[in-house]
Amino acid sequence: MFRTSGSPGKYDPALTVRRILKVNHAGEFGAIRIYGAQIWMARRLFPDIVPALQEMREDEIDHCHRFRDAMPSRNARPCRVMAFWSLGGLLLGFLTALGGRNMVWICTEAVESTVHRHLEDQLAFLQTRDPELHRLIASIQEQELAHLHEAEKNQTTRGLGHMLLLPIIGFLTDLMIWLSTWGDSSWMRAEMARSRQS
Ligand SMILES: [Fe+2]
Ligand SMILES: [Fe+2]
Repeated sequence: MFRTSGSPGKYDPALTVRRILKVNHAGEFGAIRIYGAQIWMARRLFPDIVPALQEMREDEIDHCHRFRDAMPSRNARPCRVMAFWSLGGLLLGFLTALGGRNMVWICTEAVESTVHRHLEDQLAFLQTRDPELHRLIASIQEQELAHLHEAEKNQTTRGLGHMLLLPIIGFLTDLMIWLSTWGDSSWMRAEMARSRQS
């Protein structure tokens, strides 16, 4: 059961739903920027991967709209620090593209697998609390998984770069989620873990 007194709002499921929407919408925005920067660089350095990146970017734009559309009926608002996601996404996209096409796919693998983990937590939380949002996230998760598999498939080598970069980019993605929710993602995770037991 959720506690609604004591620490105000903290265990309010509606608040958690709003935070889920806020961080997912911002995350999609960041992903659009990552792919945008990588496409810009890939056009100049390795144009053969541009179509695949463009397809993924189209999906992220669609996800971003779908999360935005789900906000008003749940009184959710977009993240106030979207510029932060934009800058972080652009930086990550440019830097990884500088490292070559393999690094682009390592970045996609790292981001998408971190996103997948967060979506899993959210799905467990939403199943009984907001079935409509649960359906929306489940369908988006399918596409994110396709991105992850495509990124895994496209890597020609899985050497030291993969071993070092995967946890670093995964950590940075987690950090961005943590910072943009002012640390709330930690208790959200704990709360969702509790909800799975209840
Ligand atoms: Fe997405
Ligand atoms: Fe994706």
